[in-house]
This record gives sequence, structure tokens and C-alpha cells, in this order.
Amino acid sequence: METCNSIAERLKDLPAMPGVVIRLQSLTKRDDVGSREVAQILEKDTAIVARVLKLVNSPFYGISQGVSSIEEAVAILGFNALHQLALSTAVFHTLAPGDSVLDINDFWRHSFGVGTITKHLCRGQSKDTQNEAMMGGLLHDVGRLVFASADAEKFNAFYYERAAVTDIEDEAEFFGVDHQTVGALLAEKWNFPKSITHMIGKHHCPEQAPEAYSLLVGAVSMADLLCHTMAVGFSASSYATDFSCAAWQQLNLEISDLEVILTDALSEIDDAEHIFSSP
Ligand SMILES: [Fe+2]
Ligand SMILES: [Fe+2]
Repeated sequence: METCNSIAERLKDLPAMPGVVIRLQSLTKRDDVGSREVAQILEKDTAIVARVLKLVNSPFYGISQGVSSIEEAVAILGFNALHQLALSTAVFHTLAPGDSVLDINDFWRHSFGVGTITKHLCRGQSKDTQNEAMMGGLLHDVGRLVFASADAEKFNAFYYERAAVTDIEDEAEFFGVDHQTVGALLAEKWNFPKSITHMIGKHHCPEQAPEAYSLLVGAVSMADLLCHTMAVGFSASSYATDFSCAAWQQLNLEISDLEVILTDALSEIDDAEHIFSSP
């Protein structure tokens, strides 16, 4: 059996966080970021430029005259949306699932769905918390991409060639580590904010999150369960964590709030369908 260390060793061989994301992350600490400055960073990465222009020209933004300049797109989308887009584009491009049978569009839809619902579950919180909610949700299952890109054959054998629904303990036994732990190791390596690292690392065991992050971790765990229940995308396994009473209490919501949240989030997920097609 592989040990946790051997998978952690393999993380050293994975590509480093792309420079464009590192430079963008350094801007998040400042309040006076101009669109020209952000555009200059983004223009260095063609995959991100393509995604940004595709998104800003989609019906979702309802801009009738086409937007062809990245600077104009930056002004329309705003820094936070671009930061999320650049980060997720970089992650999904860097961790290509190789020869695995993982459907990346389904995976992306699940990730985007969990991000959007997590953000809506945190609607009573600050804008910063909502942005973290979106990013943590988007990246929560990134550990599965690490498995797929590190050893596609083993990934297929575990997720697609076994009859039983697999849970976290099965994963840990098979790979030597489960996908939330390996995802958190990657998040640390890439210097993600601590909140995101905990959301990735504890989304199947929200009660183990440190107190300062329990709201965000509870929200991502709840959003994951909701996406599994409603079949929003697919991230290689139909396994979801049980409903967590503690997480639900943290969110301080009524069942009637949940109805509104899901209606809003699902329509946002449908509107953004066009960006799922080429992560
Ligand atoms: Fe997961
Ligand atoms: Fe998930």
C-alpha cells in the first residue's frame, strides 16, 4: 500500500503555481488595483485571456457590442471575479486529468456548483467571506485532480472499476491518503489562504475544522451534499458526507432561506453553463 508520504512526495513533482496567479494573489492585499495593472498580468497567459473574453462576451453579462480588450473585460468583471477565474483556470489547466476517464466538464460543473452554493449559503457574511466561499467551493475536490494527473490508471481503477460507492476511508486505504488531505497539501504548496486550505482539507469532516474556519468549512460541506443530492455535475464519486447539524447551525438559516438560496444559486449555475465547456 502507498503511504501518505509517497503521495506527498509526488506533489513535489507537480507543476508550481503559475506565475500569473502568484502575481494576482499579491494584488489581493491592495485596495488601489487598477484594471490596466490587472490586464497587464492576465495578458501573459493566453488560456486565461481566452476564458475571460469568452465569459465577458457571454449572454450572462448582456453586453451587445463585443468586448475584445482584456482591460475592458477587467473593468466589467471586477478584480474578485477575475481572480477566481484565473485561479480556477490555472488549477484546471495545470492538473490535467491525463488518461483518466474523468469527464472534466462534469467535474468543473460540480466544482462551480459547490462554489456558487457555498457563496450563497454565506450570503449574510462580508463580501470577502463570500469570495473565499466561492473559491473554496470551486477547489474543494482538487485532490481528485491530483490523483487523476498523478496516476490515471490507479484513478480509473478506484473510481470507475469498483462496484461499491467509495468513501473517504476507502480512498485513504487505496491511495494511502484521501482526496481532501492531498488537496490541502497542494493548497499549502501553492500558498492558498488558510480558509481555502481548510475548506479543501475538511469538507468531508466539517466538525474537525478549527473554530475560525468552521462556518466556511460547514458551508462547503453542505453545498457539496446539496450538489450530490441534486446531481449538479459529477466529481468521479457519488459519495457525499452526511448532513452535518453543526454546520447547519453555524449557517444560522431557516429552511425557507434554503429554498431561495437554491433557486438563486441554480439559476446562476445554469447561466454560467457556457464557461464549463473549456476549463
Ligand atoms: Fe470531496
Ligand atoms: Fe465534491
